[in-house]
Amino acid sequence: MKVTVVGAGNVGATCADVLARNEVANQVVLVDIKENFAEGKALDIWQAAAINNFDSRVIGTTNDYTKTAGSEVVVITSGLPRKPGMSRDDLISTNANIVKSVTEQIVKYSPDAIIIIVSNPLDVMTYAAYLTAKKPATKVFGMAGILDTARYKAFLATELDCSPKDIQAVLMGGHGDTMVPLPRYTTVGGIPVTELIAKEKLDAIVDRTKKGGGEIVNLLGTSAWYAPGAAAAQMVEAIVKDQKRVFPVCAMLNGEYGMKNIAMGVPVKLGKNGIEEIIELKLNETEMNLLKESEVHVKTVMDVLDGMKLF
Ligand code: NAI
Ligand code: 2OP
Repeated sequence: MKVTVVGAGNVGATCADVLARNEVANQVVLVDIKENFAEGKALDIWQAAAINNFDSRVIGTTNDYTKTAGSEVVVITSGLPRKPGMSRDDLISTNANIVKSVTEQIVKYSPDAIIIIVSNPLDVMTYAAYLTAKKPATKVFGMAGILDTARYKAFLATELDCSPKDIQAVLMGGHGDTMVPLPRYTTVGGIPVTELIAKEKLDAIVDRTKKGGGEIVNLLGTSAWYAPGAAAAQMVEAIVKDQKRVFPVCAMLNGEYGMKNIAMGVPVKLGKNGIEEIIELKLNETEMNLLKESEVHVKTVMDVLDGMKLF
């Protein structure tokens, strides 16, 4: 079983490494446009096999999509990351062209593949890939919610000095500062988080989560990769092992939460068919208003994509 990761940069190579280490697929193909880059990254990951004790084959290619043929799942990470002072939305003109051309190649050689988008601005790149792939919305979706929820869990675990494994949480909306963490749906070992942390502290954690991507950009000068690569690999695993995991995923909406023709983060069930169910939470008025604010923000970026006349 073959999984392809397009973009052998920070996020793509990390994702391929996690896929191989965890033996999620027995063949992992890395693709990049930069001459010999994917070949080099793939060889390095494969040379760690004897140390990390895995036998998944990892190969790299410079833009030869014949090597990706027959992939079951494809993760698209190709595109520019942001630099300090940039928002994810500043990346749209370059990344929309990249995501469109890569998706065309993927669909040509792996017509049945499930496609997971990682490139930013995530919600609008997911929408662009959906328009390009002309597949059901259950087969083209984006990774952000697992990452954003993991950041939220990390901050909570630090504050409570507890294991992040015991934190359950869900977060919705666009992948940006208008994302909507949901404290009402957050528990620690089954205990509502609101019983464990004072409101001001929880509000500060929610705020830090919303700006979590920017915090890393300011520290590193480029965006994060360990958690994003692992998050994308977790989605692949849920699909190839038909795990029916419930995750927040950037999905095309068709009336869910009263929204249509937009890709945004919502809780879904992920299995061998891709998105097998979109779960509709009974949001209260405040939560729904925050989600609508996020919708407005994503729509403004979609307008920029529309203006590019790529579709
Ligand atoms: P990077 O610069 O390290 O890697 C991107 C790679 O894409 C480069 O190696 C580049 O050569 C390659 N590339 C560019 N055009 C290509 C094409 N047409 N075909 C194949 N490869 C191509 O960037 P990094 O840090 O890996 O980030 C990748 C993308 O993921 C960025 O857009 C970033 O903003 C986004 N991102 C999204 C996250 C999310 O939660 N959805 C989290 C982290 C990053
Ligand atoms: C992140 O949240 C930049 O989207 C990327 O780290």
